[in-house]
Amino acid sequence: MESLAMEHSSVGVSAQPCQSADLAVIIPTFNESSNIAELVRRIRASLQGIRFELIFVDDDSPDRTWQTVRELARTDPRIRCIRRVGRRGLSSAVIEGMLATGAPFVGVMDADLQHDETLLSAMFGTLREGDVDLVIGSRYVESGGIGEWDSKRAAMSRFATSLSRFVIKQPIGDPMSGFFMLRREVIDQVVQRLSGQGYKILLDIVASAESPLRVRELPYTFRARFSGESKLDANVLWQYVMMLFDKRFGHIIPARFLMFALVGLSGVAVHLGMLSALMAASMRFAVAQGTATVVAMTTNFLLNNVLTYRDKRLHGWRFVKGLVSFYLVCGLGAVANVGVASSLYEQHYAWVLAGVAGILVGVIWNYLASAVFTWKKA
Ligand code: GDD
Ligand code: MN
Repeated sequence: MESLAMEHSSVGVSAQPCQSADLAVIIPTFNESSNIAELVRRIRASLQGIRFELIFVDDDSPDRTWQTVRELARTDPRIRCIRRVGRRGLSSAVIEGMLATGAPFVGVMDADLQHDETLLSAMFGTLREGDVDLVIGSRYVESGGIGEWDSKRAAMSRFATSLSRFVIKQPIGDPMSGFFMLRREVIDQVVQRLSGQGYKILLDIVASAESPLRVRELPYTFRARFSGESKLDANVLWQYVMMLFDKRFGHIIPARFLMFALVGLSGVAVHLGMLSALMAASMRFAVAQGTATVVAMTTNFLLNNVLTYRDKRLHGWRFVKGLVSFYLVCGLGAVANVGVASSLYEQHYAWVLAGVAGILVGVIWNYLASAVFTWKKA
């Protein structure tokens, strides 16, 4: 053994491997290049004495945030950048960052300096003491605050927070916080169940834990953005609603299928409304029924495109191709529906049963086939 060590040192290999980080801070970014230098400067100052690394996960920002990060990384090996191409999403970015580190403690914070970086070392200290799994930087506990938000955004945040009670069982003041730190075992325990959609990664983690986590909330005041602008928009809000569905009912029925079926139900109403209007205008039944069918398929397509598949929304030429493929899919679905229903009816099942079975086959076919042919991955 000794001679081996001797040999190594004689060729200049250090006997002591360099020590890796105890804490990784994951920072999702999209168009944040003007915030990076200041953020890194402040984190370095607040994490002095702690072995940490910073993992930026950038979704190929047009402002080249990834390049800004890489330039910094050349001067400081504790900084890393994952550049994801053709992908978007805060939650999924955070998950990938978390999986890219071996550190035993993992924190998450935004890049825009709205989160108070001076809290990081207290969060880390709390976790290290060993009797909590998750520390949350919280706006909604005593001495925390939302800073300069206008009353509309404040009300929206409170409303979204109260909706979260549908999916988490333990009392948490600020389950929507994007600022938190946890033990890596928690991540390993939940990662396969995460929905990974939208913004609410913390809520996703808490809702996916099998047993209640030991949580501590530390107050801080949400600050104004240092530079750049927020990416929170209608898409993000909708993803939140879909995630709540997914967490609540996802084990029984996929949230997307539920949405698709609800849209289908609205199509029935559209169809009947249209049919009665055309009949009142004394159109021939067959023509009226055909027109109502096309109109209902079209409204179904439009609604599915903005709601069910909001994250894969089709535009321009792909929208036209999608509509045509949706007509074809639904046309085949109707054939399957009528086929199954008639065959059951001939086998002397009650007409209601036969009818419902036909509808179910049609809806399931439409859902699966349109997922593959209409809203396929770009
Ligand atoms: N990689 C990646 N991909 N990052 C993203 C994306 C994305 O699609 N969208 C946003 N980000 C990054 C932003 O660049 C920023 O660093 C961070 O995620 C938060 O985005 P903001 O657009 O600044 O969100 P916000 O300020 O409206 O909301 C934040 O604060 C709320 C209150 O704590 C988020 O952290 C929310 O999750 C949180 O509820
Ligand atoms: Mn922000």
